[in-house]
Amino acid sequence: MTTNPPPVNGLPVLKLSNVESAYGPIKAIRGVSLQVRSGDIATVLGSNGAGKTTILKTISGIIDPRKGSIEFKGANITANEPARIVQQGLVHVPEGREVFPLLSVHDNLLMGAYTRSDRDGVVRDMETVYRYFPILKDRADQDAGLLSGGQQQMLAISRAIMAAPDLILLDEPSLGLSPKFTKEIFEIVVRINRERGTTILLVEQNANMALNASDYGYVLENGRIVMEDTCARLREKDDIKEFYLGMKEAGVRGERRWKKKKTWR
Ligand SMILES: Nc1ncnc2c1ncn2[C@@H]1O[C@H](COP(=O)(O)OP(=O)(O)OP(=O)(O)O)[C@@H](O)[C@H]1O
Ligand SMILES: [Mg+2]
Repeated sequence: MTTNPPPVNGLPVLKLSNVESAYGPIKAIRGVSLQVRSGDIATVLGSNGAGKTTILKTISGIIDPRKGSIEFKGANITANEPARIVQQGLVHVPEGREVFPLLSVHDNLLMGAYTRSDRDGVVRDMETVYRYFPILKDRADQDAGLLSGGQQQMLAISRAIMAAPDLILLDEPSLGLSPKFTKEIFEIVVRINRERGTTILLVEQNANMALNASDYGYVLENGRIVMEDTCARLREKDDIKEFYLGMKEAGVRGERRWKKKKTWR
């Protein structure tokens, strides 16, 4: 695996070196090294069980790694408490959203800002998320549990914005969403990055959306990074087209699949 820095602007804000995490005897990620450059959207692609969620949980302190180290803004945050990592400016939007169902939409958003003392900034960011997702403004006083799945995803991302983080970890924002909601969510993810300068690390099975939205990408298989490159270049690779973008060649599919499994390039 190459560890050359990606050819894009900005210094690394997040750096994983040889990280290994396990659930009891099951090694979920093995020797994962990756970097996310400040101002980028980076993505980790991988199929079910590849270890995507485990990477994010290890970064945000939910799981302590067995080996390796994690640096955020130049500081070693390996195995820090999750709350401390949030305070340092790194927020995780988990798989399955996890909004507070019995709190109103508005109060969910305020919960996102609990580490902040800049009231004016909080008010301004509340206006920003309502601008990004007007439906949340319409539903501000309603219990979050009554929102649709797509709306809850919007709320979960908005709650992350309310923390005014330097880096947002996004776990499968498109999971279970209609194409319309998926498109809308990805457009806002790109806007958060461009307008607010927030760096984003996104893990996805929806490779098409992720590769179009992101600057740099890693491919994860069975807990290992097997490929990395700019997303522009990843989109052109045959392996990616075949496995992740569904552009399989007719006829020789069975044999090619078997071969491709062994030889990423
Ligand atoms: N709590 C757990 N206990 C035991 N094994 C787990 C646990 N969570 C995940 N695993 C295992 O670790 C591996 C990586 O899982 P992980 O959830 O990180 O994959 P993923 O890439 O996020 O998959 P998906 O796309 O389905 O969300 C899998 O083999 C999974 O079965
Ligand atoms: Mg997952």
